[in-house]
Amino acid sequence: MTDLKKIDTYAKKWIKEASDRIKDSFSKELTIQTKSHANDLVTDIDQATERFFIEKINSVFPDHRILGEEGFGDDVQSLEGVVWIIDPIDGTMNFVHQQRNFAISIGIFEDGVGKIGLIYDVVHDELYHAISGEGAYLNDLKIPQMRKTKLSESILGLNATWVTENRRIDSSLLAPLVKKSRGTRSYGSAALEIVYVATGRIDAYLTLRLAPWDFAAGLIIIEELGGRATNLRGEKLNMLEGGSVFFANEELHDEILKDYLHNGKW
Ligand code: IPD
Ligand code: CA
Ligand code: CA
Repeated sequence: MTDLKKIDTYAKKWIKEASDRIKDSFSKELTIQTKSHANDLVTDIDQATERFFIEKINSVFPDHRILGEEGFGDDVQSLEGVVWIIDPIDGTMNFVHQQRNFAISIGIFEDGVGKIGLIYDVVHDELYHAISGEGAYLNDLKIPQMRKTKLSESILGLNATWVTENRRIDSSLLAPLVKKSRGTRSYGSAALEIVYVATGRIDAYLTLRLAPWDFAAGLIIIEELGGRATNLRGEKLNMLEGGSVFFANEELHDEILKDYLHNGKW
């Protein structure tokens, strides 16, 4: 049987070590490159952090596989066995511009089932963590099950991109949602936005395009707290390809899906 406690203990130790390295980099000059487009940034620290995790995981758990954003892990085509899904720095733009509001995000799956979710807000020293079936925690504090909310009393995590002209969704579809909600927020780190939903700081997070490493850990934490995690059509999330995502408490998820997303037929 897989020893989840052992994996969790090592993962937390490595997260703390990696975060010390990241904080050390604040006083040094970053090497910044762009990836798919001019605003898709990657730094030498994103890459070094991913390599750090891969080296550590390979040395202690040689039979585990790693799907990492920066591509130094394995060519993962299935979720058989134990797979670590890693975003070494989620919120790289914040990391570069603000030196805060970014996180290390690690989701660990066994045969496709989410087992351990770890999201570390490096600068605020906030570790959100869950082992499936054992509750979710923020540092040492147990996070309560998610409360239910109505849209009119909810804050939505939503980027303005999706209510302006864009190539993924008719921008008029989400506008009524924004109008009916109590307000919207956008923090620039999907992993943090998902755990803000988990802790009730916001009530839903919706976006049109994420990769598996952006939401793998968050998915495990949200599900542990009784929340819903689907794509914007209400379907199961695809852990190998990603796509749109929609995280919310149960009641709000139902309301938005039915009244604003036409039960996924948009
Ligand atoms: C990004 C952040 C951002 C989200 C982007 C992601 P990165 O991740 O999570 O909030 O809107 O879609 O790509 O590139 O900083 O790891
Ligand atoms: Ca990311
Ligand atoms: Ca990243």
